[in-house]
Amino acid sequence: MTAAKPAPQPGAEDLTENLRDRWSVSVFDPDHELADAEIRLLVEAARWAPSAGNSQPWSFLVLPRGSAAHSTFVPHLSRGNSGWVPRASAVFVAIAQVGVGPDGNGPKWSDYSHYDLGQAAAHLTVQAASLGLSSHQFAGFDHDAVAAAFGVPDWWKVMTGIAVGLHGDPAQADPRDAEREERERVRRPLEEIAFGDKWGTPWS
Ligand SMILES: Cc1cc2nc3c(=O)[nH]c(=O)nc-3n(C[C@H](O)[C@H](O)[C@H](O)COP(=O)(O)O)c2cc1C
Repeated sequence: MTAAKPAPQPGAEDLTENLRDRWSVSVFDPDHELADAEIRLLVEAARWAPSAGNSQPWSFLVLPRGSAAHSTFVPHLSRGNSGWVPRASAVFVAIAQVGVGPDGNGPKWSDYSHYDLGQAAAHLTVQAASLGLSSHQFAGFDHDAVAAAFGVPDWWKVMTGIAVGLHGDPAQADPRDAEREERERVRRPLEEIAFGDKWGTPWS
């Protein structure tokens, strides 16, 4: 059974549904599996994101739970992430192109590759939400070890993991992970991030 999602946060009530209801779950259903077609759709969502000069400076390691590649990844998780991440149905490791390879191929706009990868990752998570799935992005893992284990060339930079799956039952989870779901979600006020006449002058 999928656990209830929290009520929309103040200020988020009028967002489009997939954004309004998004939050980073820490309890995934460890029995849920993603179909190959769903995994493909999630990568397609990332693939069709915009990018500077259409450079598409992104790659993903696709690691469904139970696969050999998933088993290769899991030991490199940080202690804080090692409980909840393996329960997700799949992990996508997001990798940005940050340079030009020996064959001279590379993005013209690599200054923007982190921005582009972040946007592609966001599109993946929004597509996941539209499939009724939850996502939780994370940076807590040994990036160098993962790059080495998967043979990532050094002109690509391993950035984050995106855990995707069905929200699980907190009562069945490690209390530390269940407790994380109770934490208040907070944001800096709008006046601190949206400026008008001058930097620091609130837009409205
Ligand atoms: C780049 C990035 C790295 C993150 N790293 C971790 C992490 O290592 N472990 C973790 O539990 N959450 C991680 N998070 C999740 C954030 O803590 C979370 O998005 C933030 O607290 C806001 O909560 P919300 O997504 O529920 O709105 C990360 C998120 C991003 C975007």
